[in-house]
Amino acid sequence: MTIAPPPPWGLLAELTHACPLHCGYCSNPLELTRRSRELTAEHWVNVFRQAAELGVLQTHLSGGEPLLRKDLEAIVTGAEESGIYTQLVTSGSGLTADRLRSLTGAGLRSVQLSVQHADPAASDRIAGSRAFAAKEAAAALVTDAGLPLGVNAVLHRHNLDAVDGLVELALRWGADRIELANTQFYGWGLLNREALMPGRDQLARAVESVNRWRDQLDGSLEIVWVAPDYFDGVAKPCMGGWGAVSLTVTPDGTALPCPAAATLPGLDPVNIKDHPLRWIWEESKAFNLYRGTDWMPSPCRSCERRDQDFGGCRCQAFALTGDATRTDPACSLSPDHTALTALTHSAPGELTDLVPRRPTTGPRPASHA
Ligand code: SF4
Ligand code: FES
Repeated sequence: MTIAPPPPWGLLAELTHACPLHCGYCSNPLELTRRSRELTAEHWVNVFRQAAELGVLQTHLSGGEPLLRKDLEAIVTGAEESGIYTQLVTSGSGLTADRLRSLTGAGLRSVQLSVQHADPAASDRIAGSRAFAAKEAAAALVTDAGLPLGVNAVLHRHNLDAVDGLVELALRWGADRIELANTQFYGWGLLNREALMPGRDQLARAVESVNRWRDQLDGSLEIVWVAPDYFDGVAKPCMGGWGAVSLTVTPDGTALPCPAAATLPGLDPVNIKDHPLRWIWEESKAFNLYRGTDWMPSPCRSCERRDQDFGGCRCQAFALTGDATRTDPACSLSPDHTALTALTHSAPGELTDLVPRRPTTGPRPASHA
């Protein structure tokens, strides 16, 4: 008898790939889903009903920019009526007092606001768009409305020296939490990897800042530090394990074990329009391919850390070796570890510009063309 896997608790709902920003670190796929292929609000309501029955407790309404969905209120209502806690993950562009009022009326519970740098001009440069002022205004709207505010910054060579400023900004904006997440190199971000890769010394300074702020603030602002796994020889427990705690539904309804998994070979992901969510979670090939430990190669198979890091990240293994079944090269025990250490430097050379995110596959950075 097959034992059903434990239920997921989180659902990443990618409502649209459309976005007014052009961040060079964007991890969304190179080929974005056209707006005409997006799920309708009715589909999403159905997804949330099934997700709640499966055990999902919270959803991140993400994108792209979810505020571009004119039917976002109906989508929030669907999640709320299914008893799922909603967090809007937004750049802040397009958020007005009226829009926020109607979203909170629909049941929105919290907001996570992205920011690219503490300095407005640098933030706009990284975002490829004059977006900082809208973010500041959005933060004020969210806290005035009494909603919990989280600030999220993706970190890389162009902003790792601004960690102090980012924490000060989160405090000034009245955030409860700041997530400082070092770049993961997928999608468009993989094309900009060389320009994004920080130096070891720069990273060490950022860690020092985080520790100092944590001591100083003593929990009054939650500081989440998502370490880069390129530098310490330790694989990250990506997604908390494959098909273990959460799932992603992309704008066109494809259900994935992780947001970057669409390009992995042999996955055969299916669409929520064609299969019940429970079947997808429990029985589909995509969710079972790397679930548990049976799939693992050596050295993971006999490693004492296999139940803690789950062999690392499948998408990273694929990006660096062309084979998603290999041990994540981030791990110092991986036979491919040098493929990763070759990309890191103590003190990298001249800072180079990021190639801004474009809607589809555009011209690529010269080093990766
Ligand atoms: Fe984790 Fe595999 Fe490395 Fe062991 S060998 S630490 S299980 S990635
Ligand atoms: Fe896909 Fe890690 S990002 S498994």
